[in-house]
Amino acid sequence: MAKIAIIGTGYVGLSSAVGFAHLGHDVVGIDIDKAKIAKLSSGQSPIFEKDIEVFLKKSLKKKKIAFTSDYSKVAGSQFVFLCLPTPQLDNGAADVSFILESTKMLSRHLKKSSTVVIKSTVPVNTWKLVKENINRDDVAVVSNPEFLREGTALQDFFKPDRIVVGCTDEVKATEVAKLYKAKKAKVVFTDNTSAEIIKYASNSFLAIKLSFVNEIAAYAESTDANALDVLNAMGLDKRIGKDFLKPGPGWGGMCFPKDVSALKESAQERNVPIPMLDAALESNLKAQLRVVKKISDALGGSLKSKNVCVWGLAFKANTDDTRFSPSISVINLLLKQGAIVKAFDPVVKHVPHLKIDVTSEIIQSVENADVIVVLTEWQEFKSIKPEIIEKWVKNKIVVDSRNLLDKSKWEKNGFRFIGNGYN
Ligand code: UDX
Repeated sequence: MAKIAIIGTGYVGLSSAVGFAHLGHDVVGIDIDKAKIAKLSSGQSPIFEKDIEVFLKKSLKKKKIAFTSDYSKVAGSQFVFLCLPTPQLDNGAADVSFILESTKMLSRHLKKSSTVVIKSTVPVNTWKLVKENINRDDVAVVSNPEFLREGTALQDFFKPDRIVVGCTDEVKATEVAKLYKAKKAKVVFTDNTSAEIIKYASNSFLAIKLSFVNEIAAYAESTDANALDVLNAMGLDKRIGKDFLKPGPGWGGMCFPKDVSALKESAQERNVPIPMLDAALESNLKAQLRVVKKISDALGGSLKSKNVCVWGLAFKANTDDTRFSPSISVINLLLKQGAIVKAFDPVVKHVPHLKIDVTSEIIQSVENADVIVVLTEWQEFKSIKPEIIEKWVKNKIVVDSRNLLDKSKWEKNGFRFIGNGYN
């Protein structure tokens, strides 16, 4: 049982804090956002994430977790995890200023021979800047990137595919790995810089994979083939893997766009450009444009004053996160072409700066609709009855960019059904 401090209680920080407390460690979460600290201390989660509030309340009750804005409280901790944001700068590079500011403030409070663990996604050699800022020979700096997915963050914390620990000090590295008590996970011990690159390379490879999947879906459609069969057969090859083969309206979220851009910038800077990243970004935009063209074609070639009903605003199911959501990008393209958009999402009830009507009930979203467009793969959309929906729409057309709905069920009720990757 260890004493752990978590600096930054956003998505990664809070999931890790609640995870470590549940494993029996004594955890203090530190954040400059006093309102968030007050909310967390009262057992409320500022993020929409499965089970996180249940686990938070349990650990608060057992006094295994506490929250504060007082940085000096790290003094009691053997391990100090940096879970601070590294947002995208205008040139696409990652902004490490929060990390560097925070380490300057931390240094004098750190316990003797404590270990600072970088969990944020950081560009290569940020660990060296952190070491310089801490400027203490007795404090080790370990790079331990996270691979949590929104919607399954706690499950991914408790059952990771692998734990990556980068540090030249093997003793410190082993201590950090042991904190996870993860029996099944493979532990990868490496150096700090390799650990930093593992995160960017993993996310970028998944984004490239998805860009290819969306391009194959478009290609298969142009040949009357069925991309779902094509992708399924591809995935049976262990070298390809069956996951992340679902076509969609493009990939998004807080991580993929930012990490692909950051790696692209860093590689460019080092004069070893990775052109595949440019291609993945360009391809992702095209995937969104393809969805818009499909909708426009289905409505006779013009979206002007057409009522477009959108199902799904979050960047993927089981999260309320609309940051860099492909749904929002597609909606903005629709609005630009003069469409009138009404949307429904099971969780997202408002999107800042988006001039659309977000309905509280799904039936309201289809009233007088010229077309229904599925953009987020919320499972509850599957149980919607076309025989009920048909009474409210103006036109019986469905464009399902996630291949979520049952084509035959909708067609049986007279709907024209347009999938993604097959006709
Ligand atoms: C990602 C990484 O998966 C995770 O390891 C890392 O720690 C953070 O970034 P997340 O941002 O939660 O996690 O999203 P993810 O589940 O990876 O999905 C990314 C995007 O790809 C979403 O827009 C999703 O809808 C899309 N996607 C995913 C597809 O279009 N098809 C698929 O088959 C899978």
